[in-house]
Amino acid sequence: MESAHLDNDLVNVLFTEAQIQGRLADMASEIAADYEGHDLLMVGVLRGAVMVMADLSRALPRHVEMDWMAISSYGSGTKSSGVVRILKDLDTDLTGKHVLIVEDIIDSGLTLSWLSANLGSRGPESVRIATLLRKPTAAKVDVQVSWVGFDIGEQFVVGYGLDYDERYRNLRDIGVLAPHMYG
Ligand code: PRP
Repeated sequence: MESAHLDNDLVNVLFTEAQIQGRLADMASEIAADYEGHDLLMVGVLRGAVMVMADLSRALPRHVEMDWMAISSYGSGTKSSGVVRILKDLDTDLTGKHVLIVEDIIDSGLTLSWLSANLGSRGPESVRIATLLRKPTAAKVDVQVSWVGFDIGEQFVVGYGLDYDERYRNLRDIGVLAPHMYG
């Protein structure tokens, strides 16, 4: 391994593991209250949302179903073209379900705008979104988000599921990647 200290590649830590867990616990309380008396299907978007899904779901003191989608944007490497291809679809029939999409980050909003419309067309009772991070100044489309962990600026953030070139997803904190790491 090139570096045993992933934190060394960061300019700074934006959110520590404890801050992330604290915020997810708050979100979970609100989510539990809002869906009380209803079944809930949490849909995670691979791959970044794996950590948020694992911790948010375990912070919920109730039964939940979980399913996963893998999607990819069309286009020449630009991840937010808004034209999305499904790489792995849900295994679950959404008819009559309350669906909560779980994301790590909303950047342009194009992915989530497409995804919520796509899932919304499958006959669910409701489709709502929970994201740990959101970059409001990067928004290209308006997406209705019910739960946001933290609004952040337009820094390049990694960790807690977020990658640069598939690295740093396993970092426990979320930090700003040092420019020399991707320059
Ligand atoms: C990230 C994130 C969202 C999307 C948000 O995924 O998990 O799905 O980008 O960007 P947008 O708001 O500009 O559409 P990414 O494409 O990096 O894939 P990953 O989850 O596998 O890392």
